[in-house]
Amino acid sequence: MSMEAMIDLFLGLERMSPGSHETTAKAFHTAAQDHEIQTIVEFGCGSGISTLELARQSGASVVAIDNSSPFLDQLKQKIDQAGLGQQVQVREQSMDVAWPEGTQFDLIWCEGSAYAIGVENALRQWLPLLSPGGRIALSDLVWIDPNPDEEVQQYWKDQGEILRYPNDTRALFTSLGYQMIDDFVFPDRDWQNYYRPLKNYLPQWKSAYSDPENAGMVDQMFQEEMRMYDQFGTQYGYAFFIAQRAP
Ligand SMILES: C[S@@+](CC[C@H](N)C(=O)[O-])C[C@H]1O[C@@H](n2cnc3c(N)ncnc32)[C@H](O)[C@@H]1O
Repeated sequence: MSMEAMIDLFLGLERMSPGSHETTAKAFHTAAQDHEIQTIVEFGCGSGISTLELARQSGASVVAIDNSSPFLDQLKQKIDQAGLGQQVQVREQSMDVAWPEGTQFDLIWCEGSAYAIGVENALRQWLPLLSPGGRIALSDLVWIDPNPDEEVQQYWKDQGEILRYPNDTRALFTSLGYQMIDDFVFPDRDWQNYYRPLKNYLPQWKSAYSDPENAGMVDQMFQEEMRMYDQFGTQYGYAFFIAQRAP
């Protein structure tokens, strides 16, 4: 399936993963408790639905990173429209590139994107980027049901996604040098915020996209993903994990 087609689809949508302004704000306020946040790096910002929210909530300088230039171009337009050009800097680079020695931020933000390089890998690489007591807010897919249906287990396995139980994710954070602050599962409303516009937009996008074969494959993939959520959405979810660099 072509990446170009996926990118084209999401350029027509505001949201690229489950979420809401309320969820972003809740995670941010948890991360900012008793800690002054002046600098933020966001990994996998996409077209920046959370980036602008974070910039407004925090007043901090934000470096927003993604490896897809079309999403970043869209984000740059939004930054200009919002008059946030002094505060938000956009960088096209991979989440897993090495940073100059000594680079540190008060908060690392990664919403719906860490799967791309693997959560364990991300947590290992990003710890040195946190200033003393620095915070991280990262969202990831988790199992909720202790006995998820065979069909949904197979589905996520086929997608190459590793779903953990929140307990195991917490243990992973701790084993890699973080101290957990809190975590919570996104409400169903956040999935509807993502899937409702996607469902409405897919038919029109599919008929207009220049490469019908790839458009068909992308459509089929998301129809299947939405069917899974309709059928098994109480068995898995997205969760935000908020932690700090252990002293
Ligand atoms: C599901 S989207 C989430 C975007 C955004 N955080 C949101 O919630 O709307 C995943 C994003 O990760 C980006 N991405 C994937 N692999 C990446 C990598 N190795 N380095 C940087 N960004 C990457 C994609 O371009 C995409 O914008």
